[in-house]
Amino acid sequence: MSTRSTKKILNTLKSKTKGFVSGEQLGTSLKISRTAIWKSVERLRSNGYKIEAHKKEGYRLLGIPDSLLPQEIQYALRTKFVGKKIHYFKKIPSTNEHAKRFAAQGASEGTVVIAEMQTRGKGRLGKQWVSPAGGIWMSVVLRPSCSPQEAIFVTMIATLAARDAIEDLTGLKAFIKWPNDVMLKVPSRKKSPSVLRKVCGVLTEMAAEVGRVNYLVVGMGLNVNNELPRFLEDIACSLCERSHEVDRLALTKSILEKFEYYYLLFLKEGPGSILRQVRKYSAILDKTVRVDLPGGSISAKALRITDRGTLVLKMKNGTKKDIIAGEVSLGT
Ligand code: BTN
Repeated sequence: MSTRSTKKILNTLKSKTKGFVSGEQLGTSLKISRTAIWKSVERLRSNGYKIEAHKKEGYRLLGIPDSLLPQEIQYALRTKFVGKKIHYFKKIPSTNEHAKRFAAQGASEGTVVIAEMQTRGKGRLGKQWVSPAGGIWMSVVLRPSCSPQEAIFVTMIATLAARDAIEDLTGLKAFIKWPNDVMLKVPSRKKSPSVLRKVCGVLTEMAAEVGRVNYLVVGMGLNVNNELPRFLEDIACSLCERSHEVDRLALTKSILEKFEYYYLLFLKEGPGSILRQVRKYSAILDKTVRVDLPGGSISAKALRITDRGTLVLKMKNGTKKDIIAGEVSLGT
């Protein structure tokens, strides 16, 4: 969607929640002709907006498209800088890759890259991230003045924001699997009453010098109204399996708002409150977990998350190991 008057018409129609807005009213307030109004309405319709036109009464907005268009995300978005600039794509290889390019060219803090589909979505540890239509695939550019070691807190912030937004919007209990996954309880096909499945993952990438982050790109992937391929059924789930069709737009806005809230809190006060929340909603503390590390897998008990954001494991032989990264799974 382009032209300023098209955006203004859309906002006027949105503000009139009941009834029609007359063509005359639109024309006078925006100082444009009836033909120009009609053209804008047609443009909105071709972008998926459902607008009723009535000869005498004027125009009425009946529905907005099921897409994550920037003007929809930005409408009544309560943030100071996150999402003020949004690059939207129908289909690209990876929002993280695009965001890194924008960041290297100087994109401002809070710039968001969002896509309806990714063809080469990236997961952690070089894994593929399946990203069909119906999910939320987005990346945020940040420029915190922190050390590379502290970037783990920004990953946690994104995970926490997604967790809180999911719970707020759907009422479902959501948990955090250190450091970057949001998990939901789903009924088990076997004997145990329920199991945890991953609904969201976060991938943070950075450009840094010794001791100083240049920029971070925080990529968030949420399975929302999309189906999952069979090979993921045992480890992942989509929100729509647990809740009615979820409003992706409302969820995206809520994540961005919460993300900015926690990020500013972190910059002001350090990671204390973030860590408290991550520990509170942890899916793994006191449980036996399997951790895939570069050198192989280990089975251990997840003891605690330290103030540095690392995870302390208690090995079978009683020794303790502090890890900064690794793929954690529940069970042995
Ligand atoms: C994980 O392995 O859990 C992290 C998954 C992160 C996926 C998101 S989707 C948006 C962004 N773009 C990518 O290519 N990856 C991240």
